[in-house]
Amino acid sequence: MAIFDLTGKTVVVTGAGSGIGRATAVLVAAQGASVVVADIAESAHGTVTMITDDGGSARAVVGDISDPAVAASLIEDGNADGTLWGLVNNAGVMDLFAGVSHVDDATWERCLRINLTAPMYLMRAAVPVLVENGGGSIVNMSSAAGMRGAAAGAAYTASKHGLIGLTRNTAYTYGKLGVRCNAVMPGGVETNIMASIDQTKLDTEHLGALGPVHASALRNAKPDELAVLVLFLLSAEASNVNGALIANDGGWSAG
Ligand SMILES: NC(=O)c1ccc[n+]([C@@H]2O[C@H](COP(=O)([O-])OP(=O)(O)OC[C@H]3O[C@@H](n4cnc5c(N)ncnc54)[C@H](O)[C@@H]3O)[C@@H](O)[C@H]2O)c1
Repeated sequence: MAIFDLTGKTVVVTGAGSGIGRATAVLVAAQGASVVVADIAESAHGTVTMITDDGGSARAVVGDISDPAVAASLIEDGNADGTLWGLVNNAGVMDLFAGVSHVDDATWERCLRINLTAPMYLMRAAVPVLVENGGGSIVNMSSAAGMRGAAAGAAYTASKHGLIGLTRNTAYTYGKLGVRCNAVMPGGVETNIMASIDQTKLDTEHLGALGPVHASALRNAKPDELAVLVLFLLSAEASNVNGALIANDGGWSAG
């Protein structure tokens, strides 16, 4: 018996032009899903090519998910044939590791807008559709910084904690209607995320303080190791998993 089968279901994956999102899009497509590959970058097309070259089904949508109109149309597109089942809120950006005493407004606003408000826009549009379709699964990519205070700066940490609140509230509110919502908390993952910030502006004083924390992580994960957990959460095999916060960090957050 095939497990984790997503045949006949459409899954929207944000930030799917790179890193964890790309690995997730490729894996869920290999399990039969039709994937909407969403990214602000043109690299979304590269992910689609990877999937279609392999015989899978995917289409790219290039746009800024923190624009509410883009978010709403992405969900509309994902349900064009009435099969929307999954939403993976994966797109995210890093901050500059600054504590609250010297966080700048632009970094704060950008982190909250992309990491927290955009997932809200997408979930607001998706939940009624998933209910109408008879159920579905939302997976939010939080972070070790969604549970800890020593994994990033104030802006990123607040955004990822906020995403956990949104996850739990959604799980509790809509679980009885067949919509599950769970969060994944990666530790370090080998991706392009540090390219999302101007590294010349990094708060090296605070970054330095994170050194011992980072050293305690066993190793950085490969994006595929996160993708397989997302696949499980999207699948029918996870039908009783709702409102869970699942770390995938080699034990970092256990310390
Ligand atoms: N890499 C890590 O160590 C790590 C650790 C914990 C959590 N995460 C989380 O995992 C998620 C994926 O990150 P990644 O590491 O794969 O990074 P990545 O930079 O490789 O991929 C993120 C993608 O999101 C896209 N994106 C950014 N802003 C967008 C927007 N406004 N609209 C649409 N797309 C947008 C980027 O273009 C990029 O392709 C993020 O939410 C990140 O916070 C990553």
